[in-house]
Amino acid sequence: MLSANYNKPRSSRADRVRPFYVMDLLARANQLEVEGRSVLHMEVGEPDFPTPQPVIEAGIRALRAQLTHYTPALGLPELRRAIADYYRQKFAVDIEPRRIIVTPGASGALQLALAVLLDTGDRVLLTDPGYPCNRNMIRLLGAECTDVAVGPESHYQLQAAHIEHYWDASTVAAMIASPSNPTGTMISVGELQSLLDAVDAKGGRLIVDEIYQGLVYGEHDHTALALSDNAIVINSFSKFFGMTGWRLGWMVVPEIYIDVVDRVAQNLFLAPPTVSQHAALAAFETETLDILQRRVETFRQRRDFLLPALRAMGFVIPVEPEGAFYIYADCSAIILDAFAWCRDLLEVEGVAVTPGIDFGENAATRHVRFAYTRPVEELESACNRISKYIKKA
Ligand SMILES: Cc1ncc(COP(=O)(O)O)c(C=O)c1O
Repeated sequence: MLSANYNKPRSSRADRVRPFYVMDLLARANQLEVEGRSVLHMEVGEPDFPTPQPVIEAGIRALRAQLTHYTPALGLPELRRAIADYYRQKFAVDIEPRRIIVTPGASGALQLALAVLLDTGDRVLLTDPGYPCNRNMIRLLGAECTDVAVGPESHYQLQAAHIEHYWDASTVAAMIASPSNPTGTMISVGELQSLLDAVDAKGGRLIVDEIYQGLVYGEHDHTALALSDNAIVINSFSKFFGMTGWRLGWMVVPEIYIDVVDRVAQNLFLAPPTVSQHAALAAFETETLDILQRRVETFRQRRDFLLPALRAMGFVIPVEPEGAFYIYADCSAIILDAFAWCRDLLEVEGVAVTPGIDFGENAATRHVRFAYTRPVEELESACNRISKYIKKA
């Protein structure tokens, strides 16, 4: 006989994890494509470029050499050294390789960082809008989010004043991403220093997600590591390095966390993917960096096309997005409900964009995110379709 609660074992923490609304749109987009419709994709959050060839070759060599066993939980020592060299060359900052921890994507790094920081009931300050997985991960750990509504006045970033205002006795950490997903905006060096100081003064920890580092078109690229040894800095091979599917990232932690992160990483992941780590050693070669730098120029050209095109259609983008490959647009002048609009735009014109609701609740129904992860010609066609759709409405 089935027990009365046969369908019961399911954690309330897991139930607090929210879905991505864009996934439904994506499924519908795929279905439309199967039916033969043309769909233009502006919802995709990964580069359209393949992994650079030198990295692929290094991965193939690793496979041929049968480098397929576990590595140390914190990553291949030579890759940790290569990342330290990269910071030295690019930003003139000296990081002890022992502080660099290689992870399964920035996702793995974020999980580790949150797991070693948070106890049940602890609070984390987050931007709204912001990267949605962080909120879900915090909830999964039994901790709580303090969503801080941010807007153009702070470049959609947390500021020291937010720390003063929102930090309470349960708060232990704050998180930012610069450049940000979904806004593409950056925190300035001065604001970042003030934020680091404000979090330090509270005795808390700032997590700085630098996953879009390198994909920067305006102000000079920077790293929180140049300003402080206290932050936990997240990075990844996914975006700038074009290696999303290889599932490899890293984080830089203050000395005091190395041991606990090692223990948690051993238990959560055993090790980051071995072949990917050997491949990633080629990511810092001059030949690869030259390929990647040319791609940055292409992304800049796409942004420079899309930004004025969207503004001309009535979308309001108050702050110039300086990085990543996203434009977060206020569509309230044209649209009543962004989610319904995204669904309808896909059905009628075959253009997929991400509704604001995927990034939080702050003015979410008034915003949509456009990704410029497709060639300019496609962005142009998409804009023509959107313009046609708006005129018809
Ligand atoms: C801000 C941010 N952080 C982290 C991630 C996770 O990336 P990955 O696990 O591929 O490194 C993403 C992915 O889109 C992101 O936008």
